[in-house]
Amino acid sequence: MTDRLTIRRPDDWHVHLRDGAMLDHVAQYTARQFARAIIMPNLSPPVTTAEEGAAYRDRINAAVPAGLDFTPLIVAYLTDHSSPDEMARGHDEGIFTAAKLYPAHATTGSAHGVTDVAKIMPVLERMADIGMPLLIHGEVTDHDVDIFDREAVFIERTLKGLVRDLPGLRIVFEHITTSEAVDFVTAAPANVAATITPQHLHINRNAMLVGGIRPHAYCLPVAKREQHRLAVRAAAVSGSPKFFLGTDSAPHAVHTKEAACGCAGIFNAPYALESYIQVFDEEGVLDRFEGFASEHGPNFYGLPLNTGTVTLERGETLVPERVGEVVPFHAGETLGWRLAS
Ligand code: NCD
Ligand code: ZN
Repeated sequence: MTDRLTIRRPDDWHVHLRDGAMLDHVAQYTARQFARAIIMPNLSPPVTTAEEGAAYRDRINAAVPAGLDFTPLIVAYLTDHSSPDEMARGHDEGIFTAAKLYPAHATTGSAHGVTDVAKIMPVLERMADIGMPLLIHGEVTDHDVDIFDREAVFIERTLKGLVRDLPGLRIVFEHITTSEAVDFVTAAPANVAATITPQHLHINRNAMLVGGIRPHAYCLPVAKREQHRLAVRAAAVSGSPKFFLGTDSAPHAVHTKEAACGCAGIFNAPYALESYIQVFDEEGVLDRFEGFASEHGPNFYGLPLNTGTVTLERGETLVPERVGEVVPFHAGETLGWRLAS
């Protein structure tokens, strides 16, 4: 039995670090484990210009504890009014690694998102030309579509057309939660990939709703039926270069989740690697963890692999009930691995 695993230092290809006091609180957890992270731009107001992106990058760097080697990769937030020139300028200047498509009102901080992808086609065409990846929150917002079906319907109504019409655009289908998404990404050409969160590997919708309503298991896209969890899990551990690590760690202060209208988001950053490796261990494929955590992402983005390493070892990690004002994923549970160095 493998009791210690040393892998190339991983990256997190989807994380919410927030701003202000929350940024100062949470940046350390991501920076301690990951060499780089794709930082989501859904601040209020969102990060839409290269200047805002550069300023946010500086605030993140200031929030990372001294001595940690961490590079935030900044993402532009697309709106109906995004300009191709501004995206290209931000990308040329090395500020924007990618741009994020939030369908308007799909999730936290998406009020300024895109109302119709037809409106941003000139931006997407320019991104394809310059090799700037598009990151997608893949859920429709139509009121007639059940929340558990929103991801699968997005594939039919939006994503298939985008992939067909923009064959040169690199697309990351973020935080996939359904067998339909797994099947779509698997069958799509090599320019389409997906990130997978720890929560969608560990929980199905029962975790949210059985024995009482559990706001800390609520995120978007919402956890689905067990058959979908199993499909996402199979994709993560498959070894396919199309699937890679993206935590979607999304901290919200406890009182904003334990409320009549609680916020969507799971804060998994503090024990992300321990959470993910447990899945690869349970599936008997620890040898595939490095690809998922440290290689498939940079290869897809066209970025160099990291040079350092991290070591995980078998051993108990007790996840606390609180990390500051935030309840972490797995709160109160004991995980079977710990980060050694
Ligand atoms: C995210 C957040 O809180 O910013 N919430 C979530 O449930 N994942 C937004 C998002 O990625 O959908
Ligand atoms: Zn997210």
